[in-house]
Amino acid sequence: MTAGLLESHATRSRDGDDERSLGRAATRVLLRNWTGGATVPSRSLYPHQWSWDSAFIAIGLRHVSPRRAQRELETLLGAQWGDGRIPHIAFNPAVPLDAYFPSPDFWRSSEAGRGAGAPHSTETSGIVQPPVHALAAWLVHLADPAESRRRGFLPRVFPRLAAWHRYLTGRRDLGGHGLAAVVHPWEPGLDNSPSWDAPLRRVEPAPDSSFRRADLAHSPAADRPTDLDYGRYVRLAATYRDHAYDDGRTPHAFAVEDPSFNALRIASEYALARIADAVGADPAGHRECARVTTRALVERLWEPAAGIFVCRDLRSGLTCPDRTVSGLVPLIVPDLPREVADALLATARGEHFALGKVHLVPSYDLLGPEFDGSRYWRGPSWFNMAWLLHGGLRAHGEYGEAERLRETSLTAAHATDFAEYVDPYSGEGRGIRGFSWTAALALDLLYADRDAHGAFGLRNDEGEG
Ligand code: SER
Repeated sequence: MTAGLLESHATRSRDGDDERSLGRAATRVLLRNWTGGATVPSRSLYPHQWSWDSAFIAIGLRHVSPRRAQRELETLLGAQWGDGRIPHIAFNPAVPLDAYFPSPDFWRSSEAGRGAGAPHSTETSGIVQPPVHALAAWLVHLADPAESRRRGFLPRVFPRLAAWHRYLTGRRDLGGHGLAAVVHPWEPGLDNSPSWDAPLRRVEPAPDSSFRRADLAHSPAADRPTDLDYGRYVRLAATYRDHAYDDGRTPHAFAVEDPSFNALRIASEYALARIADAVGADPAGHRECARVTTRALVERLWEPAAGIFVCRDLRSGLTCPDRTVSGLVPLIVPDLPREVADALLATARGEHFALGKVHLVPSYDLLGPEFDGSRYWRGPSWFNMAWLLHGGLRAHGEYGEAERLRETSLTAAHATDFAEYVDPYSGEGRGIRGFSWTAALALDLLYADRDAHGAFGLRNDEGEG
């Protein structure tokens, strides 16, 4: 482990010139990746609009242009389906079909998703990603409340965000226990996490010859999911499509309750309460929903013996034994029981994640049998996860560790030219460079007005009691 290297980075103090140069470089990434109404995660590997990417991007973009950040979210919400789902990709029709796989002619949303209310005018995927959007909308509003009010931003987005959350609490509660289930490994965003290995084993992969990957033209194969993973991703998406993206009718071979997906849903539900308040609607239902979901999260996914949240496979009924960063993300939940938060903090600091000793936070257990410091979500550290944990640490009063994580995130973002992810031991960039959310969240870590009482402007005060 190269802990010495990390220490020299972390203790080096960042002066004003460093900050300005980092801020300028991060802003340049976002300007380059802006396509007129939204930001692509990457011009090469991800040339369309991605759902949770846009939420993180808006959180950073608000420091450059609150108006553009509003636009980012509203463009995405323009691709929302009638049943409330926000698709994980909104396709840009100007991009050639072979630039990204699976392309719009695979998903065929406007035709196959008609019954679920897919839009006619925009082609999209049919699956979803974590609900970071209400949180992003609230933070974008806070960046310039006067401009937000002048443009009627919150009143416009509130009904759409509320419909999105209704979709998740309703149709996606496949287990009937108050948590939203994900039906494809791309939905929680941690595509090839070792947590999915067991549930994916029951999925018959689509033959290699039936599709052509576009990602390997842009990123080293060693940093990406395998062909076998892709065969299974394709099979699951095709089955959903062939059942008209109908959650009731699709025989979901993969159905999992994931801790970070639901923790983000809870944080966003509290943000929805804030937004409801601001637009003169009743916030009480949103707060109650957040509290009930928090209880379900702890009851269903907390693993006291391991001191971490884990996934539950709804097909087997069993929890997955793997420790992944997804299980640490509930630190952002405002009213987590104190003993659970304390155990989570101890796990983050312990040998499995080595917070403060490696670069950022690894996506998977450093001691796990599947650990691979290069391969996407099987070990590398991602900047969005570090940003979330930074907020979680602050929410629990751990300001020193939060500051150290902020420093190492900023240093790694700049040194790697805003890599998609980094090797937790060496800090070397992996995946592609010029990745939008890395740049956006660096801007947020640089410029956010950090709230002394909690994370993300969702202070755990009486109103949220
Ligand atoms: N993350 C997936 C990809 O690599 C899709 O969301 O393309």
